[in-house]
Amino acid sequence: MSDHPHFADLPSPLVSKLHAFGQEQVLRFWQELDAERRSHLARQLEAIDLELIAKLVSGNEAKPDYAALAARATAPPAVRRDGTGAAWSPADAREAGLRAIRQGRVAAVIVAGGQGTRLGFDLPKGLFPIGPLSDRTLFQCFADRLIAMREHYGVAIPLYVMTSPLTHDQTVGYWAENDFLGLPKEDVILFCQGTMPAVDAETGKLLMSDKDSLCLSPDGHGGTIKALDSAGCFEDATRRGVDLFSYIQVDNPLAALCDPDLIGHHLMAGSEMTTQVVRKRYAEEKVGNVVMIDGSVRIIEYSDLPAAAAERRNESGELSLWAGNIAVHVFDLAFLRRAVASSDALPFHHASKVTPYLNDEGEIVQPAEPNSIKFERFIFDLLPWAENAFVVEADPGKAFAPVKNADGAANDTPELARQAMVQLDRQRLQAAGVKVAAEVRVEINPRFAFTDEQLAAKVTAGETVTSDRYFGP
Ligand code: UD1
Repeated sequence: MSDHPHFADLPSPLVSKLHAFGQEQVLRFWQELDAERRSHLARQLEAIDLELIAKLVSGNEAKPDYAALAARATAPPAVRRDGTGAAWSPADAREAGLRAIRQGRVAAVIVAGGQGTRLGFDLPKGLFPIGPLSDRTLFQCFADRLIAMREHYGVAIPLYVMTSPLTHDQTVGYWAENDFLGLPKEDVILFCQGTMPAVDAETGKLLMSDKDSLCLSPDGHGGTIKALDSAGCFEDATRRGVDLFSYIQVDNPLAALCDPDLIGHHLMAGSEMTTQVVRKRYAEEKVGNVVMIDGSVRIIEYSDLPAAAAERRNESGELSLWAGNIAVHVFDLAFLRRAVASSDALPFHHASKVTPYLNDEGEIVQPAEPNSIKFERFIFDLLPWAENAFVVEADPGKAFAPVKNADGAANDTPELARQAMVQLDRQRLQAAGVKVAAEVRVEINPRFAFTDEQLAAKVTAGETVTSDRYFGP
């Protein structure tokens, strides 16, 4: 303490370090803080890797040359919807996937740490009512699917849900108040991801949100692996004999959570990380691009892919880089354990964002333009590290209905997602011999009928559904 007497209560190595990295402005209001607020700020500062922040700010963690990478990019190894591209048949893959599920080798992971700003919804996205007729929330839809799967396969499927400090308390409250949405409490772990500080875009200085608080934001879905490990999910999985993690984002109600086909392809390919994709409808579509570069599978975000590469076509006229990321992955647990042990497996991406902050006078400033850089890790950056990384093409109508934007936007809205859900359930009913009148909306809870055979056994073939109907449990 002797070097910095006026920062009583703060360990002197920390003060020295803040000075060494030119970040001492975070102590500007220290004298005004009471003991409790001092310890709050001290804890935040202790948790920050100032060296890493300095490296990120100076750009020493160089941004890849995406133009050069994209020029060398080709289509990734993939099984297409018609079954081509794999040395095994779709039926064999399904069988392998079903076996793994029945053996209790699979856990479900849902990431739900994002704030859903674009959706204009004040609560965590998982609480968004998406059921076209039932108004079931996104979380409830996934819980229903897992309940149905548990019953059908006669197996426990642990569920790991990642929140962030922005969504944690409300998410935990929601699950607890709703009796874990019908799942056994002991099979659900809700855990919070880590954070990264935002820095001023011009100066690289750490921004503050209050006199005792830094501007912290979730560390990206790449933070999932560390958070899974810290929350004890790897241990929990190992104890249960689980060695496969089925990963989805909370914002896609059609996401193939614990899907036997996808898991089966993963196993047949001997892959450590498999990702499900959809064929891009047009070159500039706003999805990540799953590509092959220098022998490794990786994802280049749409914002980083130069137009020339996006528009390249093969001899048959198809987009060369056709595979759009829908953020549905299968991981080997052993691979995730290895990734978490090597701290630099995932690079940090820089995002330019608007961040309200406390100025030198202690007043909150609400900038109109992006004023800060936030640092995020992306889980898909694990792909190049995985042995035999593999890609499985899905039917978008069955697997992808992203809920990103508020109704009224041109794409990725709740209304469009509901239409996709209704369309899928119409097709299921029609396949079971039930006619659904035009304009009529239907919704099937997987707890009513999980498989098409169960559906056929429960409905009356030849019947026509003439008004909106929810097939609930
Ligand atoms: C993401 C993908 C994009 C893909 C699209 C498909 C990235 C960078 N891009 O775009 O390639 O085509 O989904 O829908 O991922 N999340 C957390 N913690 C975080 C950040 C995000 O849990 O720190 C969760 C969010 O709750 C959300 C999901 O990750 O469920 C996606 O995050 P978001 O930032 O909305 O990604 P997109 O830009 O939609």
